[in-house]
Amino acid sequence: MHTYILEALGLTKDFNGFRAVDNVDMRVKAGDIHALIGPNGAGKSTCFNLLTKFLKPTSGQILFNGQDITAESPATIARKGIIRSFQISAVFPHLSVRENVRVGLQRRLGTSFHFWKSGTHLNQLNERAHALLEDVGLATFTDTLAGELPYGRKRALEIAVTLAMDPQVMLLDEPTQGMGHEDIHRVAALIKRVSSGRTVLMVEHNMSVVSGISDRISVLQRGRLLAEGTYRDISENPLVMEAYMGTVSTQLCQEAA
Ligand SMILES: Nc1ncnc2c1ncn2[C@@H]1O[C@H](COP(=O)(O)OP(=O)(O)OP(=O)(O)O)[C@@H](O)[C@H]1O
Ligand SMILES: [Mg+2]
Repeated sequence: MHTYILEALGLTKDFNGFRAVDNVDMRVKAGDIHALIGPNGAGKSTCFNLLTKFLKPTSGQILFNGQDITAESPATIARKGIIRSFQISAVFPHLSVRENVRVGLQRRLGTSFHFWKSGTHLNQLNERAHALLEDVGLATFTDTLAGELPYGRKRALEIAVTLAMDPQVMLLDEPTQGMGHEDIHRVAALIKRVSSGRTVLMVEHNMSVVSGISDRISVLQRGRLLAEGTYRDISENPLVMEAYMGTVSTQLCQEAA
């Protein structure tokens, strides 16, 4: 396998003359949890959307295992194993937790939405679904309607549905966004646990999550890559502290100490 599973080379995105992502080079090592951070408006989501092919770059290249995937569709790269976690809105609220995971499993098998498939087939899926739900700590919620899950548990379900597709690279956009303290730590621990044997690239604002589980971090500011390294590297980088203008830099210093 290639050392870098996912690479951005000179990645650039303009919106009507405004450069949201400016010549970004980013290398994600296979097996790492790689975080993409930066102040508001830095270009994180744009970068994420470029890497997951939801946006077309103005220029630059994206490589997967050394292979150019710049021109490929989200569906094609998903088949290669680069899977973006579903938005909560994509979890079907009127289906049970188990049924949601089964839909994910069926997608991988290329039998999506074949609800009319035989019972035996569905039972095999049930076993796999149950194992996944155990992995994400939702075993006691299998028959709960997804719409009735507490917020943090919904994110765990979203991760289970993503895992059902057996991703090589799992892309998460702010997995702990909007969560309370307890959920944040549970979801961070979950990401760490399920990252074994995979690569995770996540956009994350919460610095304790970033410092707790990331192997490497890329810092964006005004569309540019400001720094890349371990949490310690970036927390000691004066440019990074300046970029955060005292908002999180104090926290960065404290945690590095
Ligand atoms: N579709 C678009 N059209 C025009 N400008 C856009 C578009 N999407 C993003 N931008 C601009 O590009 C810049 C980067 O936005 P982006 O959403 O990538 O930042 P971000 O780092 O994800 O910010 P946040 O932390 O607030 O989520 C911002 O100035 C934003 O206004
Ligand atoms: Mg964003």
